[in-house]
Amino acid sequence: MSDPGFPQLPPGFRFGAATAAYQIEGAHDEDGRGPSIWDTFSHTPGRTHGGATGDTACDHYHRHPQDVALLRELGVDGYRFSLAWPRLLPQGTGAVNQKGLDFYDRLIDELLDAGIEPAATLYHWDLPQALEDRGGWRVRETAEAFAEFAAVAGDRYGDRVERWITLNEPFCSAFVGYAEGRHAPGAREGRGALAAAHHLLVGHGLAVRELRTAGAHEVGITLNLDRLHPASGRPEDLAALRRAEVLHNEVWTEPLFAGRYPEHEAETWAGLADGDWRRPEDLQLIGAPLDFVGINFYRPITVEAAPHREPDPERRTATDIGVAEPDPYGTRLTTMGWPVVPSAFTELLCNLDARYPQLPPIWITENGSAEADSVTPDGRVHDPERIDYLARHLAAVADAVAAGVDVRGYYVWSLLDNFEWARGYDQRFGLVHVDYDTLTRTPKDSYHWYRGLITAHRARTEETAR
Ligand code: FCB
Repeated sequence: MSDPGFPQLPPGFRFGAATAAYQIEGAHDEDGRGPSIWDTFSHTPGRTHGGATGDTACDHYHRHPQDVALLRELGVDGYRFSLAWPRLLPQGTGAVNQKGLDFYDRLIDELLDAGIEPAATLYHWDLPQALEDRGGWRVRETAEAFAEFAAVAGDRYGDRVERWITLNEPFCSAFVGYAEGRHAPGAREGRGALAAAHHLLVGHGLAVRELRTAGAHEVGITLNLDRLHPASGRPEDLAALRRAEVLHNEVWTEPLFAGRYPEHEAETWAGLADGDWRRPEDLQLIGAPLDFVGINFYRPITVEAAPHREPDPERRTATDIGVAEPDPYGTRLTTMGWPVVPSAFTELLCNLDARYPQLPPIWITENGSAEADSVTPDGRVHDPERIDYLARHLAAVADAVAAGVDVRGYYVWSLLDNFEWARGYDQRFGLVHVDYDTLTRTPKDSYHWYRGLITAHRARTEETAR
C-alpha cells in the first residue's frame, strides 16, 4: 500500500480520539459500580464472541494515567470518552457513588493538565441493569432517570467538559438492542424497540435541558446515520430503501432537526406501532437547538427487499421491515466485514447538510477501521490498511468541507484496541495495540501517522494565523 500522504483540513479543524467506558474501563464491580445491561449480556453464554466480557477490558480504570500520557504524546486536541452511568448512579437513580464521581474527576483533570479538551458521552450503551429490570428504554421512566444522571454529571463536570454528547448511536440502543437482539439487552421486539427509540429521544431532550441548567458549554448528540444505496432499481428494492431510510436515519433526524416525525413512517412500521408512547409536548423537547451533531461513520449499506418479511405485525420486530444487506461494493473489507467506501462519507455529510437548514455544526465523533494487527518481532505494529482508511476518510471529510459543509473536528475510533461489543476482543480498532494477557500498550504505525498529521496540521494553522 503506497503512502497516502496527509489530507488537508482547514485551519482550526480539530483532531481527537475516542473510547467508551464499558469497552475500556474494566473494574466492573469495583468502588461501588453497579451492573449494567452489558455486564448481564456479556455474562450470558453465547452472546459475545468467545464469551468475552468487559470485566477487565483494557483496565483503563487503573491505567488511565498511562492512557492520558499516550493521548498527550499523540498530540490530540480532544479526547471523547463516556461516563459509566452505573458507576455514578449504581441503581440508575437515587444514591450517587462518590468513588465513581472521583474517578472521572481525576481523568478530566489529567486531560486538562495535558492540554486536551474533554468531550463526555453520557450514554454509550451501559444502561444500569436496575433500570432494565423496570422496563429499560421501553418505558418513559428511564428517560426521566437519564435526566437525573445528566444533572449529576453536569453539576460535577460542567465547568471542565468542553463538549457533551447525550446519546451515542441511539439506532443501536433501540434497534440492535431491542429488535435484533445482537446487543444488550438482547431483546427481539417490535413495539418495545420503537418505544425505546422514542424514549431515547425524550431522554436526550430532558438531558439537554439539565445540561443547559448546569451551564454546560457545548451540547449535542451522536448519530450513526447511514448512507444507503438500493441494490437495484427494482420497485421492491426501492421500497425497501424508503423503509430503511426511516429506520436508520429519519427516526432521529426528523424529530431532532425538523420538529416532526418521519413522513412515511407508517409504511415502514406497517402496523407495528401505534405510537401511543408519544406525548404532544415531546417534539418540542426533542427538537431543542443543539450546539453540534456528532456523526459516526464506518461504511455504507446497500439495501434490498428481503424475501422473509414477517407478515404478522404482532410477531414482527422493528428491524424485520424487509431489508437485507448485500455487499456489492467490491472494495476491500475490514475485519468487521465492512466495505471501505470513503465517497459515501462525503455524500452522507453533504446530503444531511442539504436536507436540514437547521442543522448545527458537525463533529465526526467516530471513524476508524478494524484490522488484523499484531506486534511483530521488531516490537512494532504495522497497520498500513488503517492508515490508508483514515487518510481516505479524512480526505472525504475535507471534500465535504470544501463543498460547504460545516465540520469542526474529527475523533478517530479508537485510541485503544478494546471490547468490541458482541464481537469481543477479536476486532482491533485502536491506534494503540493492547495485549489482553499483559495489558501492554503498543502504539501502532497509525498512531505515529496520526501524530504526524496533527503536527503538520497545527503548523499550517499557526502559519495562517500569522
Ligand atoms: C460504533 C460504536 C463504538 C464502536 C464502533 C466500532 O457503533 O459506537 O462503540 O464499537 O462502532
